[in-house]
Amino acid sequence: MKNIKIEINLEVFDSVSELPISIEKLMNKAHEARENAYAPYSLFKVGAALQLDSGEIITGNNQENAAYPSGLCAERVAIFHAGSQHPNATIVSMAITARSLKNKMITPVPPCGACRQVLAEYEVKQDPSIEVYFMGETGKVVKANSVKDLLPLIFDSTFL
Ligand code: THU
Repeated sequence: MKNIKIEINLEVFDSVSELPISIEKLMNKAHEARENAYAPYSLFKVGAALQLDSGEIITGNNQENAAYPSGLCAERVAIFHAGSQHPNATIVSMAITARSLKNKMITPVPPCGACRQVLAEYEVKQDPSIEVYFMGETGKVVKANSVKDLLPLIFDSTFL
């Protein structure tokens, strides 16, 4: 038996104002999208904004359903939109923000496991890494330079 240690790297910014201006703008688009989330069950609104290499920004928000598992997270709404409408585009970065209607969310909210797996698929497909920034409603912003830092043990097509 041997132990394997896996190192991941994350950068933490104290607030959005510390971010490069283009990322602050991207995060603002995610905030705007978040407010249009359809989240009557969880009261937890999430917004995501993707920057494509063309400069275009694609946004998404969580869409819930009375049959709970039929809903979809903000990140996947945005990335599937990009994949379906811009199949040859490269995704440069993604900004994610979450706001709870029950309490103030100041902790950065990372994408869920299923969204990390979906992000991993697109990163592997395009090759250049996707920068992922995530935050709560306010406060610190965490940056991962690659989806591999969020999901080190990626299941990808090489296993198939
Ligand atoms: N949610 C997202 O939109 N993204 C995530 O990465 C985590 C969770 C949504 C799903 C559901 O509508 C609500 O947040 C509560 O889980």
